[in-house]
Amino acid sequence: MALISMKFIMVALLATVILTTLCNAGKVYTGGYLYPQFYDHSCPKASEIVNSIVAKAVTKEPRMAASLLRLHFHDCFVKGCDASVLLDSSGTIISEKRSNPNRNSARGFEVIDEIKSALEKECPNTVSCADILALAARDSTVLAGGPSWEVPLGRRDSLGASISGSNHNIPAPNDTLPTIITKFKLKGLDLVDLVALSGSHTIGQSRCTSFRQRLYNQTGNGLPDFTLNQVYANELRQRCPRSGGDQNLFPLDFVSPTKFDNHYYINIVAGNGLLSSDEILLTKNSVTMELVKQYAVNNGLFFDHFAKSMVKMGNIAPLTGSKGEIRKICRRVNH
Ligand code: HEM
Repeated sequence: MALISMKFIMVALLATVILTTLCNAGKVYTGGYLYPQFYDHSCPKASEIVNSIVAKAVTKEPRMAASLLRLHFHDCFVKGCDASVLLDSSGTIISEKRSNPNRNSARGFEVIDEIKSALEKECPNTVSCADILALAARDSTVLAGGPSWEVPLGRRDSLGASISGSNHNIPAPNDTLPTIITKFKLKGLDLVDLVALSGSHTIGQSRCTSFRQRLYNQTGNGLPDFTLNQVYANELRQRCPRSGGDQNLFPLDFVSPTKFDNHYYINIVAGNGLLSSDEILLTKNSVTMELVKQYAVNNGLFFDHFAKSMVKMGNIAPLTGSKGEIRKICRRVNH
């Protein structure tokens, strides 16, 4: 009798374990992840619509490719890829647009608005603003001559923003390399991701205020950053004086500022990286140095790693299933 009940308990226990495992597996596969075909039935024209509006905007202003690529990054590093960066201030929401990395700097919001309004006409309440950012980043990269990749989709939009997250999680151009590495690690991104994604600085512009310190007083001793090519530094000083000219713009890659290629790395090797955060990839860590040197001579390797790292970045803490919402207007929550 005792033996029979013992057997019964064992079978019951085994059944519970199997059931729990199956249920958990079910949880993993029901909405907790992103996949490229997410809108295939609900909005089959979604990616086509995004692409045509991004293409129009980039033709009008080539820099827009860079600005849209950066928006996805600034979105994903704050509360995950949930379009929190797009919210304007209202009620209890303090917009991330006011944070140090974004103020007078982040741009492209009007293009996202235009895409969203076209998508609402085609398939209302369906395509998230967070997915628009991910698609626009990919399309921008391709339009500028960079690699392509399939964009996993199915993100939903946040119900709030985090200005402190924006101030603290997004690396600053004068952060030390260990700080930048930590900020990437906290998002699940490694040294390959850091060096490959920094290659985004092959397109776009920086304001004088983001690199002035390197020209005059890098470590607080009144001396410039000697890892910066001094011929290049002299040119930069012409339009980036000790004081004033804060908003003056400079290409992040002066050789081919609107072309997505590996010149960013070739520049760094020659001491021509514009931001301190660019140059220290070569000078402060042997692993990142090796990657910079490899990408400088192997564009294909850079493109391959960049595409993989963009998918990884796009997977940072998405809202899925019934979490968050699909905003009707990307600048504000629905209610
Ligand atoms: C590694 C740490 C990074 C730092 C410290 C950094 C910092 C900066 C700074 C200071 C600027 C110039 C902003 C201004 O002066 O207005 C900039 C521009 C830019 N960043 Fe980064 N960035 C980093 C990584 C990334 C990543 C991972 C991406 C994309 C995946 C990215 C994409 C861009 C683009 C495309 C621009 C040009 C934007 C435009 O022209 O509108 N950056 N970044």
